[in-house]
Amino acid sequence: MNTYIPQIGVTTGEVILEFSYLLAAILFIIGLKLMSHPESAKKGNSWAATGMGLAMITTLFLHRDNSGTTISLINGIVIIVAIIFGGILGTFIAKRIKMTAMPQLVSFFNATGGAASALVALMEYSNPANESSLVTLLGLVIGTVAFSGSMIAYGKLDGKVGDIFAKWTTYLNLFLLALIAVIIVYMLAFEHDMATQTTLSYILLVVALIYGIMFVMPIGGADMPVVISLLNSLTGIAAAMAGFIYHNQAMILGGILVGSAGAILTLLMCKAMNRSLINVIIGAFGGGGAGVDKDQGAIKEITLSDAAVLLTYSQKVVIVPGYGLAVAQAQFVANDLVQLLESKGVEVKFAIHPVAGRMPGHMNVLLAEADVPYTKLVEMDDVNPDMPNTDVTIVIGANDVVNPATLDDPSSPIYGMPIINAHESKNIIVMKRGMGKGYAGIENFLFFDDKTRMLFGNAKDSLQKLVSEIKEL
Ligand code: TAP
Repeated sequence: MNTYIPQIGVTTGEVILEFSYLLAAILFIIGLKLMSHPESAKKGNSWAATGMGLAMITTLFLHRDNSGTTISLINGIVIIVAIIFGGILGTFIAKRIKMTAMPQLVSFFNATGGAASALVALMEYSNPANESSLVTLLGLVIGTVAFSGSMIAYGKLDGKVGDIFAKWTTYLNLFLLALIAVIIVYMLAFEHDMATQTTLSYILLVVALIYGIMFVMPIGGADMPVVISLLNSLTGIAAAMAGFIYHNQAMILGGILVGSAGAILTLLMCKAMNRSLINVIIGAFGGGGAGVDKDQGAIKEITLSDAAVLLTYSQKVVIVPGYGLAVAQAQFVANDLVQLLESKGVEVKFAIHPVAGRMPGHMNVLLAEADVPYTKLVEMDDVNPDMPNTDVTIVIGANDVVNPATLDDPSSPIYGMPIINAHESKNIIVMKRGMGKGYAGIENFLFFDDKTRMLFGNAKDSLQKLVSEIKEL
C-alpha cells in the first residue's frame, strides 16, 4: 500500500499526507472567509472543523517519524482516547455555556491551546532529533505566556481575579522579558549537558508563566477583548512553532492563520477604541471616576404609556443594544418591538457598536438568534451621521458604548473610544435596571441629559410591557 515512488523520492503515504494538509489548509481558509459574515459563520466553522478532522485522521494513520516508523499501537490508542475525551468534553461545555459567558470560554480554550503548544516544545527541546532549538524555545515561551495570560483573562472576565494597577508592574514586566531573552541566549550560545538543559527549560517555563500572569494583571476594564484577541494570536504563533518542530504543514498553516487573524482583530479593536496597542498593554486602563466635577443634573423617568406614544408617533427610531440586552435575553422581544413599530410605519434600525456586549460580534450573534434581518443592523460609522435626524434612540442595556465622556472628557478612562452618538438624537430612552455602571465602571452623563428619559427594569420585562402598551394604543 505504502509504496515508494522513486521518481519523486517519497512514498504514496507521504504524498497523501501532504496532500491532505494542503486540503486542510484550503478548508481553513474557506472556513475563515465564511466566518466573516454572520449568515455563513456556522457553515465556516464546519468547513474549518472538517479540515482539522482530516489533518488529524491522516496524521494518525500516515505519519512516520525519521526512522520511517508509524505511530505505535499504544500511542495510537492514547491519541484516540484523548480525541474522544476532548471532543465529548468540548461539546458538553460549548453546549451548556451561556452566551454572556462566551468570552470566558474563549479565554479558557485559548489557554488550553497555548498549554498544548508549550508542552510540545518542552518535550521536544530535549529530543536529540529536534533541529530547531530557537523555534522550540520561542514556542515554549509564547505558548506558556498565552496559557497563563489567558487563564488570568478568564479569571478577570469571570470576576474571580481582581486588577493590579501599579507603575511597578511595567518595570517588572520589562525585567521578566529581559530575563527570558537572557535565558534563551544562554541556552543557545553555550553547550550544556542534558540535565542542565532540562533545568534551564523548566526555569524558562516558570519565568514565562509569571510574565503571562503579570502581563494581563494590570490590564482591566474595557481593554479585555483586545487582550484576549492578542493572546489568541500568540496561541496561533505558538502552534505554528510547534508545527515547525514536527515539520507539520497543517499545524504551521493553521497556527499562522490563527496568529494573523488574531493580530488583525487586535489592531481593528484598538482602532475602534482609538488607542494604540502599547497604550492598551501598559496603559493600566480600568474603572475609575469620570468627570466628577461635572454638573450631573437630575435623572428623569418615562412612563410606559409615554414611551409607547413617543415611539408610535416617531418616524425614525434607532435601537442601541448592549450587554444588558444579552443578560436579559431580550433580543426576541426587541425584534417584536421592531416589527410592531414597523407595522405602524416607523423606520427602525439597530446601531451596532464593535465592542458592545462582551465579545466581538456579540450583538450580531444575539440579534441573528432572534431572526432580525441583517439589513436592519447598521454599523456605528454608518449610523452616526444619521443620529441628529433620529426621533428616538432606545438604549437597551448599553452603557459604555453610548457614553459621551469618550468625546469630551479627557480625564475619562475611555476617552477617545468612538461611540454611538445617541446623545445627538432628538429623544433618548434608556432601558436598564437601575443606575448600575457599565464594564468600564464609570458614570455616564447621557443618563442625566435633558433629552434622556430612563425606563428602569429588566430589559426583557420592560420591552414586553412596552410592546403590550403599544398594541393597546
Ligand atoms: P456595559 O457598558 O457593560 O453596560 C451594560 C449595562 O447593562 C449596565 O450599565 C447595566 O446597568 C445594564 N444591565 C445589566 N443587566 C441588565 C438587564 N438584565 N436589563 C437591563 N439592563 C441591564 O455594556 P455595553 O454598552 O454593551 O459596553 C460593553 C463594554 O464591555 C465596553 O466597555 C466594552 O469595551 C467591554 N467589553 C467588550 C467586549 C467585546 S469584544 N464586545 C468584551 C469585553 C468587554 P444596570 O445594572 O443599571 O441594569
